[in-house]
Amino acid sequence: MSSPPRFFRDSSPAGAPGYKRSQFTYRHLAQLASSSSTCPLRVVSHIDLDCFYAQVEMVRLGIPEDKPLAVQQWQGLIAVNYPARAFGIGRHCTVTEARQLCPDLIAQHVATWREGDENFAYRPDAAEHIATDKVSLDPYRLECRRILAVIKDHLPARLQKVEKASIDEVFVDLSAHVYEILLERFPELARPPPYDDPSEQLPMPPLSALDWQADALVDLDSEQAELDDPDWDDVTILIGSEIVRNVRAAIKEKLHYTCSAGVAKNKLLSKLGSAHKKPNQQTVIRNRAVQHFLSEFKFTKIRNLGGKLGEEISRVFNTELVSELLSVPIEQLKSRLGDDTSVWVYNTIRGIDTSEVNPRTQIKSMLSAKSFRPSIDSREQATKWLRIFAADIFSRLVEEGVLENKRRPKSANLHFRQGAAGGGQTRSRQMSIPQGKPIDEEMLFEIAKTLLCQIAQEGRVWPCSNLSLSIGGFEDGITGNMGIGAFLVKGPEAQVLKATTRSAFEPGGAGDTVQPPEKRRRTDEGGIQRFLTKREANREADARLGSDVAAPRGGASSGSEHMPGVTVRPSGPHHQAPVAAHLCSRCPAGFASPEESREHQDWHFAKDLHEQERVGLALVSREPAAASSSHTGTMRSAAAPPKRGVGRPKKTERGQSKLNFG
Ligand code: CTP
Ligand code: CA
Ligand code: CA
Repeated sequence: MSSPPRFFRDSSPAGAPGYKRSQFTYRHLAQLASSSSTCPLRVVSHIDLDCFYAQVEMVRLGIPEDKPLAVQQWQGLIAVNYPARAFGIGRHCTVTEARQLCPDLIAQHVATWREGDENFAYRPDAAEHIATDKVSLDPYRLECRRILAVIKDHLPARLQKVEKASIDEVFVDLSAHVYEILLERFPELARPPPYDDPSEQLPMPPLSALDWQADALVDLDSEQAELDDPDWDDVTILIGSEIVRNVRAAIKEKLHYTCSAGVAKNKLLSKLGSAHKKPNQQTVIRNRAVQHFLSEFKFTKIRNLGGKLGEEISRVFNTELVSELLSVPIEQLKSRLGDDTSVWVYNTIRGIDTSEVNPRTQIKSMLSAKSFRPSIDSREQATKWLRIFAADIFSRLVEEGVLENKRRPKSANLHFRQGAAGGGQTRSRQMSIPQGKPIDEEMLFEIAKTLLCQIAQEGRVWPCSNLSLSIGGFEDGITGNMGIGAFLVKGPEAQVLKATTRSAFEPGGAGDTVQPPEKRRRTDEGGIQRFLTKREANREADARLGSDVAAPRGGASSGSEHMPGVTVRPSGPHHQAPVAAHLCSRCPAGFASPEESREHQDWHFAKDLHEQERVGLALVSREPAAASSSHTGTMRSAAAPPKRGVGRPKKTERGQSKLNFG
């Protein structure tokens, strides 16, 4: 645990000799208290687990921190720990290639469901059973929930605002919490503003050392900026950083996982910060450092600028660098990109992002799928998979609080792709999930069988190359923010969960878990990325139909994870997704054709830009331009392996030695 920094207790009083005012006002302070997303003193953190699946396996199996380990899915790797990355091993490697680089590598296969079995398990022979197994990510989901519980436990319940952004990361809006601490340390800030005028500027913070402890402080672009007196935004971000350091220490202490964090004024920057230095570090991007920090990035590495839009911008303006794009006036951007897009781009490269941290995670649909290579040709075989899909989806429903009736799906859909691998017609059937009685695995299985029966009755449907069961149209049982209770499964829920996850944690299990990297990555993305190109939208629609095909390096894929952007979403307005052939991932709309769906996505895209609401999910590659030459656009490139060992002391950042004013 860190000790708080030492401050002088008094701020310079108004009217004192050399009196200088803060650039912030009493109104800004009030905005901080209410976690306003436009508050210039705002503090947001992004916390991301280091090599998450790999750490889960290391902790589960009791493997020492310095041993190289990778998580295997079929012949590919889906997570690589930092000691293994030091050998040049990354997600791009096959198991064989990885072993050539590091013969001592521990390759742990993910847990799998097996055709005919009712539980997933770690199996020593999973890699050879691509045809009969389906990966299970439940062990990681369970750990994710435990981590969330620790985070929430550590923050005052009435002030916390935590958004689960993916299986291994959260955004935390720390503003209200920081405000409380700020007032404790500087009671003079609690006094009413002079003349009761909230637009009055605050007194300056005391000139004392800001103790950044072990934070990685992003450099500033000029020595002068470092010499400028610290203002209240430096102080709030420092307090935020202390909180985050303690949260990270609690995760390490209680669950033995390390994570990295970014602390900044918004989601966009904090997300960039958490990826900036890994593993087991936290990066602080003070407001005064934002421009310098961003200018080191290629804008094409900013996720929402990584696709067609980024390509278009680099073509039109003949540069990929944020630093060069910064000099392009807004009018010029507008003339080439249109008004809304330009405003968004203009703001993003300046680190401006007012998107909210949404405490509720809205799952809109869930899908469990399997592609068959070779295809299957009987109802009996298909039924065995339906049993697995039902179990898989049910365990995720448990997680969603369905047993406490917090949220409940209304409809189920079965997709059936006829024919040999890759081709063929897709048939689907949908039905309502009976309301008024508890959903259980058996009920889902019965529904799935009924739907299969309806499809089979059409005649001449076999063989089948892909089968998927999805549920959607979630309705809320309880409104309001989720407390810790939503993550800590209790009573009967716990029983079910235990039954469905037990095998994954049994000692002596040999496997690990996996998901196709492509899919995982898209799940992580979210934001407007999915709507940037028609092709993207189409791919999503495809995936929703269960057309999960290529896994990394020839592995079969399993669509067992929540569909990217579809199932796990930040809240905002409450959406419900009916199960239809082409579902909108943003609202309840469903469409008969991919064209209609794409048009609709374009509309969302335009609307997004306009409202600038969701853009804060802009996720960016962590490498600054200079370090990313061999980078191919994936987010956590293994091409730049970090140093061996976790949490070794690092050299002092420039800003750390410079912020001493005491
Ligand atoms: N994941 C995946 N396929 C991808 C990306 C991620 O299966 N293409 C899974 C990984 O197994 C990973 C988890 O999702 O452990 C979180 O992903 P991410 O945070 O991107 O990477 P980490 O493995 O956690 O590594 P890092 O330390 O760089 O965050
Ligand atoms: Ca991670
Ligand atoms: Ca992540």
